Parts: sequence; structure tokens; C-alpha cells
Amino acid sequence: MTVSLWGGRFSGGPSDALAALSKSTHFDWRLAPYDLAGSRAHARVLHKAGLLSDEHLATMLEGLRSLGADVESGAFAPAETDEDVHTALERGLIERVGPDVGGRLRAGRSRNDQVATQFRMYLRDQARLLSAKILDVVQALVEQAERHADVAMPGRTHLQHAQPVLLAHHLQAHAWALLRDVDRFVDWDRRAAISPYGSGALAGSSLGLDPASIAADLGMAAPTENSIDGTASRDFAAEFSFITAMVGVDLSRIAEEVILWATAEFGFVSLDDAFSTGSSIMPQKKNPDVAELARGKAGRLIGDLAGLLASLKGLPLAYNRDLQEDKEPVFDAVDTLEVLLPAVSGMVATLTFHPERLEALAPQGFSLATDVAEWLVRQGVPFRIAHEVAGECVRVCESRGIGLEDLQDDDLARISEHLTPDVRAVLTVPGSLASRNARGGTAPVRVAEQRAHLLHETASR
Ligand code: ARG
Repeated sequence: MTVSLWGGRFSGGPSDALAALSKSTHFDWRLAPYDLAGSRAHARVLHKAGLLSDEHLATMLEGLRSLGADVESGAFAPAETDEDVHTALERGLIERVGPDVGGRLRAGRSRNDQVATQFRMYLRDQARLLSAKILDVVQALVEQAERHADVAMPGRTHLQHAQPVLLAHHLQAHAWALLRDVDRFVDWDRRAAISPYGSGALAGSSLGLDPASIAADLGMAAPTENSIDGTASRDFAAEFSFITAMVGVDLSRIAEEVILWATAEFGFVSLDDAFSTGSSIMPQKKNPDVAELARGKAGRLIGDLAGLLASLKGLPLAYNRDLQEDKEPVFDAVDTLEVLLPAVSGMVATLTFHPERLEALAPQGFSLATDVAEWLVRQGVPFRIAHEVAGECVRVCESRGIGLEDLQDDDLARISEHLTPDVRAVLTVPGSLASRNARGGTAPVRVAEQRAHLLHETASR
């Protein structure tokens, strides 16, 4: 039978069915180091408030130290009868220092403010660890960009050939998105670094304990302003979960492109053997499983967010046991990204690009038609007419099965009086790329500047 924290009012313990339903040690045990840190800080404020003698404080801190060592070594683990990480660690402390000293720690705190604080502490650490792994993906993208600084590729909209762009420009676009995800974690941390400790069950502490000193002790910026908000809010978890879902979505967009690029039809990249799999029946196969798992896991990360928001929806203030359902989805998101990010950075870092194929396709699909139109605009032709003239060029070429660059002088003159042979200057991929030289454009000089900026931003994270 479960040993509970509320013996006094109850004549018997919980039923086995309730205990089984209620139990959370199988997932909340990862909060143990944070529970112990909270207990050390709490013992110190009890002492400061005159509620714990010098001797009791020393005994308590020694007990928590030895318990911490046993948790770390695995010598102390949750028992079948422990409801959650907090109950288990209180049992462990009492086993070490006896009920007279150990039983004093619970004064002025509740599992409601404990769990709300510890969850924040855990996620703050994870935000830092995940950010470092996201930056590894950014670095892999930037290194590939650097390695192929002048390679052109067909830029697409609607997955149709649109305009030539630099491969580096395209890869760096993915890097910026991931850098914003890291920024999201940084920004989130400002709101997460608030400590609900001292909120008690919901109404605050009456024992003269100082929430600000506990907050400082736990590395938080400040205590919560409102004890009800402190114990009942989980928007910090939902926001964290959004960021993990966004990372998943951003990775899935890279993944989808790698999957396409690795097909025979695209032929843009080859996958490294270490980051691809074979088939048990088809000997020739080399499959982009890393990318497919990245694409698939984005769905799971979105599901984690949706599940958490659904658990929070409509919950009255303050704490409700539903809130115990807040942890598994977010833990799942952390665990998912922890294995996914290194696989994606490894896959990106080891892609072999095929520049000849990328370059050959860059001008295909009449992707220089916009350049013709813009050349005409520079000659003083209104864009409406320029667009039509360039469109006519495409129509003529399409009907003859030739490219824009194959149009002869008389073809050009027949299409429009404005089309002089000089237009050929822009009918090359390098000419087209170089002309898009405004800030943010794909001109090689701008893309190199952008990359320097990206490296600077990455280094400052
Ligand atoms: N394990 C619970 C949770 O994760 C905290 C316990 C609070 N339980 C309670 N009955 N007030 O939310």
C-alpha cells in the first residue's frame, strides 16, 4: 500500500487502483536533482526564519547530500509505494535523518509549488542543452554553404523552377530559421526564470519564509508575484513545447528537401553511408531514414504540444491533479529532440552535393524570364509590358523546344522592338545571380556577407 503524505485525516490508505493511477515516479524521477536543490534551499530559508536550529539544518543538509549521492549512484530509487518524486525523496531523507528532523522540511511548502518550480528548473537546463544541439545543425548548414559558396541551383516556388539562387543562400535560409528557434529559447527563459517556491499549495506561505531568497538560491531571477498563478500556470511548459514543435517543423522542412534531393530525379545530393540505411530485400537501396524520421517526429512534437494544451484548457484555478499530465508530453519532446538533432546535424554535415547537376538545372524551366523582364524595365519599358514580352519569349521557346538563350536576334526583334541582342547579358545564371545584389538577395557578394553575419550571430548565442 502506498505511504501517503496525508495520514491524519484518512482511516486507510489509497486503493491499489488509485495508487496505480496516481503514480508518476516512472516519469518524474528525472526531476530528482531539482527536488533536492529545492529542499536544500528550503531548509536554508526555514533556518533563516528561525524554524530550524543550526544543528537540524546541518543534519538535514548532510542527509540531503547523502541522499543526492545515492540518487546519482542509483543506490536510492523510487519504491513501488512512492507516489511521486517528491514523496520518494522525502521518504529517503527521513530514512537518513529520522522523522524528527526529516519531518520538518515540509513546513511552508507544498508539492504544488515544488513541482511548478522544479519543472521550470529542469526545462531551463534542457533549453540550454537543446540550443547547443540546434546550433550544431546551424553550423553544419553554414559549413556546407561555405564549401559550395558559388554553386547555383534552381530556386523554386510552388516546387516549380522560379529563379536561380545560390545553394549557399538556400542552406543559409534554413540556418536563420533555426537561429530564431534558439532565440525563442533565450526569450522563453526570461519568463521561465521565475520561482513559484513559497506559493505553498496556492495561497502563499505564512511561516515568514522568504521566496526571494529561495528564488536566488535556485538561480531564478525572482519569485512569482502571485501564488495562485505560481502553482496553477503552465504556460511556461506550453511555450517550451511550442518551441520544440517549431524546431521539429523547421527540421522537417530541411528533411523533406534532403529526401527529394537524394532521389535519382533530383540528383542534388548523395547521403553518407553512416546517415542512410539499406533495404533488407532491395540490394541497391540507400534510404534517407534520418530525414524521414525527422519529418515524422515533427508530427509527434506537434502532438505533444496539442496534448498539453488540451490538458490545460478549461482548468479552474488553482492546482488540479490534471496538471500532473503536463510533464510527459514535454519530456517526450525533450527526449525526441535530444536524439533527433545530432542525427540531423550529422546528416547535413556529411551530405555530398553534386554541383554540376545543381548548376545544370539552375537555368532550366525558363528561370531567367524574370531577368528578361527586369532588363526591359531598365530600358524604360513599363513592367506590365515587360512581363508580357518576357512571357512571349517563353511561349516561343516552349513551342520550339529551345531555351531563352537560344533565341536569335531576329526572334527577339520579332517578339518586341525593345528586345535588342544586349538582353543576352542577363541570360546567364551568373548574371542573374549577380544582379540580385540588394541586401538579403542571392548575389554572391551579399550571400557571403550574410554568412559572416550568420556566423557572428551563431557565435554570440
Ligand atoms: N506529482 C504531482 C504533479 O506532478 C504533484 C503533486 C501534487 N499533488 C497534489 N495532490 N496536490 O503535479
